[in-house]
Amino acid sequence: MRYLSHSHRTMRPLLLVCLLQLVFSGCATDPGTKQIPTQARGFIATEAMVVSAHPEASRVGKEILQLGGNAYDAAIATQFALAVVLPAAGNIGGGGFLVYRQHTGKAGTLDYRETAPAAASETMYQDSAGNVVNGLSTGGHLAVGVPGTVDGMVQLHGRLGSLPWARLVQPAIDLAAKGVVLTEKEAAGLNRTRENFLQHNKHIPYLTRESNWQAGDTLRHPDLARTLSRIRDEGRDGFYTGVTADLLVREMQRSNGIITHQDLQRYAAVWREPVTGRYKNYRVISMAPPSSGGVALLQLLQMVAPYNLQRYGWQSTETIQLMTEAERRVYADRATYLGDPGFVTVPVQELLDSVYLRQRMATLDLAKATPSTAVKAGEMPVYESEQTTHFSIVDTQGNAVSATTTLNGAYGSKVVVEGAGFLLNNEMDDFSVKPGVPNMFGLVGGKANAIAPGKRMLSSMTPTILEKDGKLYMVVGTPGGSTIITSVYQAILNVVAHGMTMQEAVAAPRFHHQWLPDEIQHEPNAISPEVREALRHKGYTLQERGPYGRVDAILVLPDGRLEAGADPRGDDAAAGF
Ligand code: GLY
Repeated sequence: MRYLSHSHRTMRPLLLVCLLQLVFSGCATDPGTKQIPTQARGFIATEAMVVSAHPEASRVGKEILQLGGNAYDAAIATQFALAVVLPAAGNIGGGGFLVYRQHTGKAGTLDYRETAPAAASETMYQDSAGNVVNGLSTGGHLAVGVPGTVDGMVQLHGRLGSLPWARLVQPAIDLAAKGVVLTEKEAAGLNRTRENFLQHNKHIPYLTRESNWQAGDTLRHPDLARTLSRIRDEGRDGFYTGVTADLLVREMQRSNGIITHQDLQRYAAVWREPVTGRYKNYRVISMAPPSSGGVALLQLLQMVAPYNLQRYGWQSTETIQLMTEAERRVYADRATYLGDPGFVTVPVQELLDSVYLRQRMATLDLAKATPSTAVKAGEMPVYESEQTTHFSIVDTQGNAVSATTTLNGAYGSKVVVEGAGFLLNNEMDDFSVKPGVPNMFGLVGGKANAIAPGKRMLSSMTPTILEKDGKLYMVVGTPGGSTIITSVYQAILNVVAHGMTMQEAVAAPRFHHQWLPDEIQHEPNAISPEVREALRHKGYTLQERGPYGRVDAILVLPDGRLEAGADPRGDDAAAGF
């Protein structure tokens, strides 16, 4: 049976206006009460759905589901489509994390995070005097980690896929060959990055041209179409060996890159157990280290679980204070304890222990802010850029995939592999470029996240699935660097504690605290003037910032239908049937 098949953007115009106003100017400003439109549901499907950062990628995923493909097939097709239609973050030159829940209830995760090349070292971004060299870990060839996406998709297909591999890669090849019509945001992103593309490439990358890109222009990717064809025909070997690998290694040698053929051949995605925990009658399934996201999200939810957030109200002084105090403590833990479990011992059980979490909140005083200096004298969280992308999928059988994938910064290292047509990540900057000492952004990371050959850099990506009463309930995730964790946290609480629809929950304006800097960062109109004043009175510093995050989520409604939450901050869209 077919139902709606349009994107969320065809919702009633009035409702959309209200949602957008909610994000960027506020629909209502009454503090401590529900400042949200009433029951503004997102796009509804009855059988299967894909929500991603681009309408074309969602369409590709939906078509695979309509062909009888499962959620894993659709994830592979969506991931490759995003590599074409969303060059800022979709990728084959980066990596990601994927959480899945089979319709039987079995859950697992796939880690296709990049790794440090064999020639990497703890001090590789420092000069002989031990000073961090500005820009070395964020742009250009030396910033690139060994890409994991293609091996991740190959492994996903081998274990859980059902349709032929070639069928899943083909839609991306078609998009690359035919070209993609640029949206206003994409054109602006490419224009903004033009100088960086020229700076970091010896050739003139095809993503630049003499005049500015305009919305409506078609961007074709002929080299990328050929690379994707090799991946279609040869699978893993189409990327990690042969022509593509030769082009990538030659690109490295053109400048100061260090990735070798051996690094590429050695790369392997890893199947990991998810981290799981409970929030009231919900079971939360999320990503284990080397992402900090799952551990941090579970800590946050458990720390606020004893409090009645619903009674306090959405964005009330008390709710913001409780969530902020939990965030402050969790990000302090993150900076100290989290890293690649293949290299450091990450005390996951201890960090999620209920007695430990109660103790962490015991110092909470609702009369005043806890200064971050009193929480932990230690190291700050690592800088992470906010350009990543997420997609959520549910198939006709009830299998679910939550996947977050990234090049790190917008367009990654800005290096385009000449002749292969894809961008390389700058994920090496997610390591601590110099543990204990501020990096170029004025931030530092912990020893646990120091660079070592073959090691995975710490991440905040938080692809997450919720069960309610043992059944699939929500699939959620977002880009946003260190704000990923708190955006997912808020999207979940907006639904389960504040009764929002999925669309309202992803559109609602957000706030963020990450221990250091000791400030509540918030989107415009996320916090009413009265609540801001009350928080300031209690000793909190508030910092307004532009919109961030692109939460894409699916909620299973009580009657079994699926509701999309497609973030109006981007070009995000849902497709389903
Ligand atoms: N590069 C962003 C993250 O992994 O969190």
